[in-house]
Amino acid sequence: MSDAPSDSQPAAAKPLHPALDTRVCELLGVRYPIVQTGMGWVSGARLTAATSAAGGFGILAAVTMTMDQMRDAIQAVKEHTPNPFGVNFRPDQPDLDERLAHVTKEGVKLVSFAGAPSKDTIAKLHDAGILAMPTVGARRHAEKMLGFGVDLVIAQGGEGGGHTGTVPTSLLLPQVVDAVGEHIPVLGAGGFHSGAGLVAARAWGADGIAMGTRFLLTAESRVPDEVKARYLEASVTDTVVTTALDGAPQRVIRTPMVDGLEKATPVTKLPKALRNALDFRKVTGTSLKDLVTEGLAMRKSQDLTWSQLAMAANAPMWVKAALVDGRPDAGVLPTGQDVGVITELPTVAELVDRIIAEAEATLARLGA
Ligand SMILES: Cc1cc2nc3c(=O)[nH]c(=O)nc-3n(C[C@H](O)[C@H](O)[C@H](O)COP(=O)(O)O)c2cc1C
Repeated sequence: MSDAPSDSQPAAAKPLHPALDTRVCELLGVRYPIVQTGMGWVSGARLTAATSAAGGFGILAAVTMTMDQMRDAIQAVKEHTPNPFGVNFRPDQPDLDERLAHVTKEGVKLVSFAGAPSKDTIAKLHDAGILAMPTVGARRHAEKMLGFGVDLVIAQGGEGGGHTGTVPTSLLLPQVVDAVGEHIPVLGAGGFHSGAGLVAARAWGADGIAMGTRFLLTAESRVPDEVKARYLEASVTDTVVTTALDGAPQRVIRTPMVDGLEKATPVTKLPKALRNALDFRKVTGTSLKDLVTEGLAMRKSQDLTWSQLAMAANAPMWVKAALVDGRPDAGVLPTGQDVGVITELPTVAELVDRIIAEAEATLARLGA
């Protein structure tokens, strides 16, 4: 499937319920408080442009792009929509400065991070007029990020996709709102897929929702159709949080491959891990020297053992095998638990319009 943006447009604008017109809409310059998160190998130009064109806020996943691919993707989004969008990085990627210089030149509205960016990185973003948004999985992470000066946070509960903590969204979100919501907007993530969920997030004090899996399963996401079909078959109990990929907990669809990795010994894991590290270096354009420097920095900053460090590139390469090369049996399928309640592949505009219409109907029902 081409990753060029498609032409689907949102329905005509109607007045929005005041409960849905939040701080996040103003801060991000969007109509709806709905963010499509950065998802490695998934949120390319087509998905991001479609989300921003539909009135939400799309985020390009640049962690798994070379510099050239990132440049082309930013260009493609801008050609498709004048609306704001963001780019997702890893806080410890070795070429971060060069990449930040490019997003600054391109006037990108926001940079998001899966982990915690440094104070220095946040200051650089602010000097360039760019918003900084980390994902947090605990109240104390949110407090620390507020202290570093971030502009908003995603609070991602344990039902979410990708790397995830253990606290469920229903408990984490009100905690994070309580800790930092007075100062900065909070987006709820992990399990959101509907208008009722958006209203629930607002009830917990959040300013909007950020969704990964729900956007992965749309017409515009670049995942091959046969792999999307595999996601649609999964039930809410078909996912598992495993540390067997790269040492950090990650939610994936349970497959024979994942079961095998969970049983593997360090001796069988290590050669695979080293091969994946070298492959990841090639696809992201990282030099061998940078790979080693980055590895040593990660070992120090994240307190990793040597074997965890060796595993670090596993997750992206196995995800690529499934989501880009279309080989789910040879790779892994990261997902939120809400994959089990998602049954179809709407266009992004249909999805965003539907969530807003459902949220309006829910608010009307509660008001009545
Ligand atoms: C396939 C996939 C890839 C992901 N890759 C990234 C990534 O590169 N960077 C990041 O910050 N988060 C990543 N995530 C996490 C999402 O951005 C988001 O926080 C999460 O999916 C929210 O939970 P939900 O899937 O229940 O909506 C990924 C999630 C999925 C499902």
